[in-house]
Amino acid sequence: MKTVISRVDANNPNRKDMEMAGQFIASGELVAFPTETVYGLGGDALDSEASKKIYAAKGRPSDNPLIVHIADFSGMEILAESVPEAARKLADAFWPGPLTMIVRKSAKVPYETTGGMDTVAIRMPNHPVALDLIRTSGCFIAAPSANTSGRPSPTQASHVEEDLSGKIAMILDGGPVGIGIESTIIDLTEEIPMVLRPGYITPEMLSEVLGQEVIIDPGIIAADDLTKPKAPGMKYRHYAPKAKLVIVDGVPDAVKEKINALVKEAKAEQKRIAVIATDETKEDYQADIVLSIGKRQDEDSIARHLFRILRECDDLEVDGIYSESFSTPRIGQAIMNRLLKAAGHHVIQV
Ligand code: TXA
Ligand code: MG
Repeated sequence: MKTVISRVDANNPNRKDMEMAGQFIASGELVAFPTETVYGLGGDALDSEASKKIYAAKGRPSDNPLIVHIADFSGMEILAESVPEAARKLADAFWPGPLTMIVRKSAKVPYETTGGMDTVAIRMPNHPVALDLIRTSGCFIAAPSANTSGRPSPTQASHVEEDLSGKIAMILDGGPVGIGIESTIIDLTEEIPMVLRPGYITPEMLSEVLGQEVIIDPGIIAADDLTKPKAPGMKYRHYAPKAKLVIVDGVPDAVKEKINALVKEAKAEQKRIAVIATDETKEDYQADIVLSIGKRQDEDSIARHLFRILRECDDLEVDGIYSESFSTPRIGQAIMNRLLKAAGHHVIQV
């Protein structure tokens, strides 16, 4: 299949391109599009054949449910068996935005879309191209991140092209995304709301709006394989670069010293090593390749560049990667959740 790639101005998308994309979705084909978090791989959420195509294009296990994207709250009333009061409150506060809510599904949502589950994940993305595509297609759009299963999520159209060119009908290139890590997922099907995937919207923010306690799925914090996460997708090995990635954690000076010592050892063995540092520390390393992930003082910049840096490590064909740790104050948990997965939980404490 030849993939049509169209550059669209996010604030004023070309009608012809958007209509072509909407037409593809409505006729059961797949279109990758930008959202504020990462690029999504979209198909008609109520068409079980389109969902099957999504799993096939990504190489994704079919027990891993998709997120359904809507452009108006009324979409939730159609997709959910009933709309919990908490969902209304959270939508008022955070939609459109980087929050996905899990509710019981209505009969309209096919099991292919929900990976066989009786619940459905719903999100209203905060990106003009995504909202336009949903409206123009006249569909609810099922969209996982638009990467090959296991690779880092795409934060620019070229990442989607790398993974899915020739496998999908169209890519809408709206430039690099703003947030860079996937949406926060909150499960509203139990008594106490539970965060299944950390993201830009923190448990504290959710709890404040709901006026009640919000817990975090123990399965996403545990480093062992015994505590299974509740979101099926969180159990898979993810984001892993081809080279072994090790995180070095501790006070800044000790981290620098340790990483430089490790780089020296590797160099002696003729290995090519990349170091993931920040703008503040990038001059302090003696490695061949030092990549700055962003500014430590600006945690949003770290989230925005994380997946691109992991992909760059693959492009640079390094033999090993050492990274600083980024347990920043607000979204540090979301950043470290991705980085720890990418590292297969290899952490050196200094
Ligand atoms: O920011 C995002 O959420 C992006 C953009 C494109 O919207 N989408 C995204 O989708 O990250 P994906 O498929 O890569 O991740 C969806 C996650 C998976 O971990 C999946 O297991 C979980 O959501 N999920 C989906 N439906 C669920 C359900 N009914 N119950 C529990 N977890 C669910
Ligand atoms: Mg994904």
